[in-house]
Amino acid sequence: MLTETISLSIKRSPSEPTATDAWRQYSVPVIAASMSVLDALMWAQRNADPSLAFRSACRVGMCGTCGVAVNGREGLACRTLVSRVIGDGEIRVEPVRHVPVVRDLVTDMSSFHAKAQAVAPNTEYAGAGTPGVFTDSRQAIQAQRECIYCGLCYSACSIVGLDPGFAGPAALNRAFVAASDDRNELADDVLGHVANEHGLWRCHDLYECTAVCPKGISPTLAIQRLKRRVTTHKLKRAFRIGR
Ligand code: SF4
Ligand code: FES
Repeated sequence: MLTETISLSIKRSPSEPTATDAWRQYSVPVIAASMSVLDALMWAQRNADPSLAFRSACRVGMCGTCGVAVNGREGLACRTLVSRVIGDGEIRVEPVRHVPVVRDLVTDMSSFHAKAQAVAPNTEYAGAGTPGVFTDSRQAIQAQRECIYCGLCYSACSIVGLDPGFAGPAALNRAFVAASDDRNELADDVLGHVANEHGLWRCHDLYECTAVCPKGISPTLAIQRLKRRVTTHKLKRAFRIGR
């Protein structure tokens, strides 16, 4: 049952360099049963505090820019219904973790994107743009290709918190896609980029990333499959089986 007004608490950046983050509370009217957390943020910005900073664009779960932590759990603000998270009448919204905060809920995702780029810097797609695009191997990784690089998995991952050098779930999922597309003639190079202590072997299969992905992707499974592939590759080379 919706309450008429919710208490929206937002973790705000300090107003002065020497101050610390502070939670600010806003009373926000519930204007529709379909009201999202993004709608609530917009209401607060327009009606209570124009200085409130957050990021959004598409408002339909496609662009990946509105990621936040709602009541401690990562989610897209535009796809998180107030009615689902209202609990005892309060919603707490804070920025995603493991990336620098620019202001309020706006984060600098450049390190996240740089890691995703680094795992598969080069791809050479033989047959791109031809009927070969619809290969069986590509269909098999279709779900993993749906990543919108929202960074929610990166924020939820405990290992990123422990090892800032860890590539993270989205980057390793991207590596899996690049290495599994049989049109990519540089697929084996990808394995070289991720089979190291800050890559595949750092993942402990906690499924924290899988639990929060708004696109239903399981980076954990992608990482497990890449580990298997790397191990098979090494065994084949050790025993000189195949190439
Ligand atoms: S794997 Fe899912 S949670 Fe991670 S960046 Fe891609 S869409 Fe977002
Ligand atoms: S505004 Fe684009 S995913 Fe939320």
